[in-house]
Amino acid sequence: MTGANGSPESVPELVAALTTAEKLSLVRGDYPGRGERGVPVAGYLPPVERLGIGPLRLADGPLGVRSGEATAFPATLALGATFDPSLASTFGRAVGAEARAKGIDVLLAPGCNLVRVPQCGRAFEYYGEDPHHSGQFAAATVRGIQSQGVVATPKHYVANTQEHSRVTASAELSERALRELYLRAFETAVTEADAGAVMAAYNRVNGTHATSHERLLTDLLRGEFGFEGPVVSDWWAVNDGLAAAQAGLDLEMPGVGVAHLAAMSGGPNLLHELRARWPDRLYPERLLGRLIAYAGRPGGIPEPSGSLFARSLPAALGSDTVRSRLDEMVRRVLSLHRRVGALPGESRREADPDRATHRDLARRLAVRGTVLLRNEGVLPLDPGASVALLGPAIESATTGGGGSSAVTPSRAVSPATGVRERAVGPVTVEPGHPPVGENSLTGALFDRRSPGEPTVNVAAVQNAAASVDTAVVVVNDDAGEFSDRETLALPGAQDRLVRAVAETAAQTVVVLQTAGAVEMPWLDAVDAVLELWYPGQEGGRALASVLYGDVAPGGRLPVTFADPADYPTTDPGRYPGVEGDHGYPEVHHTEGLFVGYRYLDEQGLDPLFPFGHGLGYTTVAYESATAALDGDRSVQVTVENTGERAGREVLQVYVQPPQNNVVRPPRELAGFRSVELAAGERRTVAVPLDDRTFTRYNEGVGDWVLDPGRYTLAVGRSARATPLEVTVDAASVRR
Ligand code: BGC
Repeated sequence: MTGANGSPESVPELVAALTTAEKLSLVRGDYPGRGERGVPVAGYLPPVERLGIGPLRLADGPLGVRSGEATAFPATLALGATFDPSLASTFGRAVGAEARAKGIDVLLAPGCNLVRVPQCGRAFEYYGEDPHHSGQFAAATVRGIQSQGVVATPKHYVANTQEHSRVTASAELSERALRELYLRAFETAVTEADAGAVMAAYNRVNGTHATSHERLLTDLLRGEFGFEGPVVSDWWAVNDGLAAAQAGLDLEMPGVGVAHLAAMSGGPNLLHELRARWPDRLYPERLLGRLIAYAGRPGGIPEPSGSLFARSLPAALGSDTVRSRLDEMVRRVLSLHRRVGALPGESRREADPDRATHRDLARRLAVRGTVLLRNEGVLPLDPGASVALLGPAIESATTGGGGSSAVTPSRAVSPATGVRERAVGPVTVEPGHPPVGENSLTGALFDRRSPGEPTVNVAAVQNAAASVDTAVVVVNDDAGEFSDRETLALPGAQDRLVRAVAETAAQTVVVLQTAGAVEMPWLDAVDAVLELWYPGQEGGRALASVLYGDVAPGGRLPVTFADPADYPTTDPGRYPGVEGDHGYPEVHHTEGLFVGYRYLDEQGLDPLFPFGHGLGYTTVAYESATAALDGDRSVQVTVENTGERAGREVLQVYVQPPQNNVVRPPRELAGFRSVELAAGERRTVAVPLDDRTFTRYNEGVGDWVLDPGRYTLAVGRSARATPLEVTVDAASVRR
């Protein structure tokens, strides 16, 4: 159809009307022209004014909108710890609305990679170690974001589970592990939530760059999952322009060099961006120095990586296949314009988010994502009691980790501020340890860790701890994009700090703010441990409300906490990988399906705290469970709050396979449901089961198969505490 004024109206008509140069301008990012700068962005797609096609603005990310000031929400892992995907939808709606209000069309979120390596620097940007759980959260987040007229971009497709050598390494893994583990969250986000874009990762998969991986991009994502939007490259992740286009990559980002990107994504972050986005190996200090010197003049800056599409596609357009592929790329890119209202004659949705409501949401999410790992009867605290607030992170808010997900909030509440606001009794504050890491401009530019171990002011913390009812020690790590944590130990001398406090204090509560699992060598010496992850801008208030019992901590572990030697990735061949014959590191996923709790179960190892674990302030009894296998499959679980306070329980169902010769994890999360129970309340709750609960991927058949036999559905409060069981025969399971 053609509009009244003769302009094309549908996407195919637009594609037919575009010149080759215009088509090429729609498949790679660029630097905004004069008057188009607008808000800080990570990526920009210029308009085609002649045809009324608007520009597109792309911004990070998973913890909030990275464009000027925005609400800094808790980490993705904290969201995963809520075990309540409806909160992910609410979160998605909030970030979507903030993005929309800023004129951002595409949000580079959510992070959908599995936490395979516990020390992964970006673990906090992902939902956890279980594919069913991650899939539910990914889909809910995408739905929320997209409900606001903004496109979501699940990333990084696929098997991008470490920062170490992230642009060179190849994830070497089986088809079955890909299907059952690493693809699941992407598949769910696409098939159940209609994600509008997908970001292809930096790494290679079985030797081929993810951005040039025809089987992953075209056969699976499109052919099998039915994805109709564009695949967007991670920033400078295209390795070979023509190969990527032919394999199924549609949009190259950012399409401009590092300095232009820095200029576009906001002056204050310039140095950080330069260093952070260009790994040392590729971007030596000397060149960095030159770039910094030229920073104010983007036009004159050396451009080590502009657009590979611009370099390779024009010359290849003599081929019919490449020409028709370019048309398809443009069609897919224009689906973004269609979704956000940037096609001719359309307009973007209005949004006027209420930032006060979003701050409150950030607090509620932090509360619900907080996991009470241990409580020897000390929590909740009496507001009238005296407390000493200790630790390097006590006076600063841990809003997130380093890298592209870092959000700039207009204000942030530190643990000390949160507790001071709420406490009735006396509060003393004594950090006792220098700040850990910085995640800041200088922190990212220069080595974050100062040489030698920092000193703990033992006398000061012990004095403070000795004179109060309770010592609260807030400790943290400093993870971020671009590198993994070196170990799972708390950085600096924080373990020494905790021990010093525990020796003196009448009771000690440790508050962790970490990117993921962490070692706790002092565990038995302390009375309570709370894990807040990176709790976002309202973390201090969330902490106070949990400490004083205004609300029970709602979180459960989305990752296993174990002895560092007990994770599957302790073997260097598995992590960080070994140099192979092809000149790049190979990361051999020889653990196969046994990631996270699946590995510890298989090996018969006991975790420090199992997947799914988290205490509340009440007790819940599991009474009975029955399976309903007709229609929507579920397990009906009856539970009773046997304590004196209201509380939340996360009912978890794990499937155990029949005894046969098939390799399969001893148990896998099949469903979960978070419920609120008043004191004394008894309820029967339906826990919906994943469609693939009973099946597994059969590589020979190339499909999901149901093996005969009896399956057990184990029901309880963690992967290691399942008081109820229901047995089901495969014959009664309809596929
Ligand atoms: C990250 C992506 C991010 C992109 C744009 C990359 O370094 O891996 O997650 O969306 O930069 O900022």
